Amino acid sequence: MARLVIVSNRVASPKERAAKAGGLAVALREALGQRGGLWFGWSGETQTDPPPPKVFRSGRVTYALQTLDPEDQRAHYAGYANGALWPLCHYRLGAISYRRADWLGYRRVSEHFARSLMPLLTPDDTVWVHDYHFIPLAAELRKLGFEGRIGYFHHIPWPTPEVFLTLPSHAALVQDLSHYDLVGLQTEHDVRALLTYISSEAHGWIAPGGVVGLRERRFRILSFPIGIDAAAFVHDAKASVGRDEERRLEASLAGRALAVGVDRLDYSKGLPNKFAAFGELLNAYPEHRSKVTMMQIAPVSREEVAEYRALRRELEELGGAINGEYAEFDWVPLRYLNKAFPRATLAAIYRNARLGLVTPLRDGMNLVAKEYVAAQNPKDPGVLVLSRFAGAADELTGALIVNPYDIEGMAEAFNVGLRMPLEERKERWRANMDKVETNTIHEWCENFIAELSRPVDQFTAGP
Ligand code: UDP
Ligand code: G6P
Repeated sequence: MARLVIVSNRVASPKERAAKAGGLAVALREALGQRGGLWFGWSGETQTDPPPPKVFRSGRVTYALQTLDPEDQRAHYAGYANGALWPLCHYRLGAISYRRADWLGYRRVSEHFARSLMPLLTPDDTVWVHDYHFIPLAAELRKLGFEGRIGYFHHIPWPTPEVFLTLPSHAALVQDLSHYDLVGLQTEHDVRALLTYISSEAHGWIAPGGVVGLRERRFRILSFPIGIDAAAFVHDAKASVGRDEERRLEASLAGRALAVGVDRLDYSKGLPNKFAAFGELLNAYPEHRSKVTMMQIAPVSREEVAEYRALRRELEELGGAINGEYAEFDWVPLRYLNKAFPRATLAAIYRNARLGLVTPLRDGMNLVAKEYVAAQNPKDPGVLVLSRFAGAADELTGALIVNPYDIEGMAEAFNVGLRMPLEERKERWRANMDKVETNTIHEWCENFIAELSRPVDQFTAGP
């Protein structure tokens, strides 16, 4: 079996708290922990004239962490990756700030990563690059002579051609993708969006088996909806019953229903709309006043980007307004927490929540939706309220599917969820849980690697 080499910007190294790491790093830790291999990524530090990567081993995984030049890191992370690609892929054209210097810095970081990764590679390694921070990496590794398999997985949505075309560097970015052997996206919708761009704008061709031809390159594009470690969530949620944290949570609720949201403080997550919908629930359905508490866990994220700082201020104002209007001396409607919690605590909170509120304006998958399902008590499960614009909505059809732009519609769904009879809750939960248990992070990882190992010329030769 070829050694697996994973590359990602964030590395959930043994020293890093998983709670800080976000969906991608959490998922990769599960995947690589099982199989072993090399995990190459950013050290989280900057330094002018950065030294070669720090390499160390922990269990079955070797870590290699590269420090970056401060200006390159800014142009790469706050500049191009999170100032242009992230808003673009999440359909937030108004939030894009594109600068040529950032694009060049972004490419320099992939070049630098390729140069420091290359000496650590053997020709038989399989390299798997994760997320939008390193799209040019395969092209850079090829320039240095690496001929092994290289795969790329895009954890976030792929936008439709009309949106993608607004990116000045769109053609170069897709040309970069063509240096991979396999490009994985979250959903069929994402695959269609990229294929349409390739055939209609880039003069490429498409053949069965996900095969794509672009200039002299042939590669494959397929969807691999990411899953979670369902068994671990089931275990953590069950283990939380009766423990100190769970007892404190229960005592604090004093018999009221809990509605929970867990999202990085990111504009893609639709938090202002969710707050507004909760306010609307209390306004339009006064019977829920003093009977339901909403808890929004929202760890701060990417504060070096202005939009994120503005969002934080907006939420403080909105949250304060809801509590100011509806709180009673013995009830605070909204508990808003800007901190991250470990998985075991989240599992306990999910299990005690009658509603799971996952209402992003756009999301590649959304792991929280799947975690909420896995953590439920099968005898008395809660209801997932899920945005149709989360990748997870393709699979979790037992959820109450909402349009996050429709505040009154969301409030209506919250009301339906709070009143839903046990039998219907069980039925919906079972349908969701079947998906969460079948398509786990382990399946996802194995499927991707199996497809990556298949040579593209096994498939039809194209037109
Ligand atoms: N997470 C966590 N602690 C927190 C908040 C989030 O461990 O306080 C984890 C959460 O359990 C999930 C991930 O971070 O595994 C978030 O992934 P998701 O796909 O929902 O969103 P992303 O942050 O990747 O956009
Ligand atoms: C999402 C992205 C990841 C990213 C994570 C946390 O999950 O897909 O690539 O690591 O958010 O964001 P951050 O910018 O803190 O790494």
